[in-house]
Amino acid sequence: MSEDATRTLLVELAASLFARGFSVGSAGNISVRLADGYLITPTNSSLGRLDPARLSRLDANFAHVDGDKPSKEVFMHRAFYTARPDAGAVVHLHSTHATAVACLDDVDAANPIPPLTPYFVMRVGRRMPVLRYYRPGDAAMEPAIAEAARDARAVLLANHGPVVSGKTLTDAVYAAEELEEAARLFLLLHGRHRRLLDEAQVDDLLRTFG
Ligand code: 13P
Repeated sequence: MSEDATRTLLVELAASLFARGFSVGSAGNISVRLADGYLITPTNSSLGRLDPARLSRLDANFAHVDGDKPSKEVFMHRAFYTARPDAGAVVHLHSTHATAVACLDDVDAANPIPPLTPYFVMRVGRRMPVLRYYRPGDAAMEPAIAEAARDARAVLLANHGPVVSGKTLTDAVYAAEELEEAARLFLLLHGRHRRLLDEAQVDDLLRTFG
């Protein structure tokens, strides 16, 4: 896909997330890998009103080369790209239900959301840990995210929100949407007798859909 088409797609997907309430105010940021660097949303921008020409462009070493000042969460995105060579895009949101799970103290921090539905497993994978709280923009989160990202496509940052990677921009956005829905189901089913997918069903999904 050309860089122009990538810029247009990023702006469209971001506006769609914003329109459906996955992001409010200036929360959230999105990045995508290019052949020779990255595009990332500018700091303090609203995902609802991005300008394709003003997206921040980073070189292959994540140095800002043009466009508006980049998101303060470049470290968060860099952690995924360096830990996961297959990551082509990263989406960070403060989406309500995933963030609610990230605020719970009585969940399994290694994997708080169990395999409730096939699409959660297919898009997000087998494991998604909760990492400890870091102040937004704190570079100290980078090594912690990078370590977790070696065997997780997504993480929850405690009291902050989800960070989700995907092979493509569309994959990363779809995964962030599935994660938000799974978190919503998880909270909705709290206290009920849930039927989870079993190990064989999860294995089958990952074998079939990758
Ligand atoms: P930026 O506006 O710098 O991208 O930060 C928004 C955010 O979501 C912080 O976590």
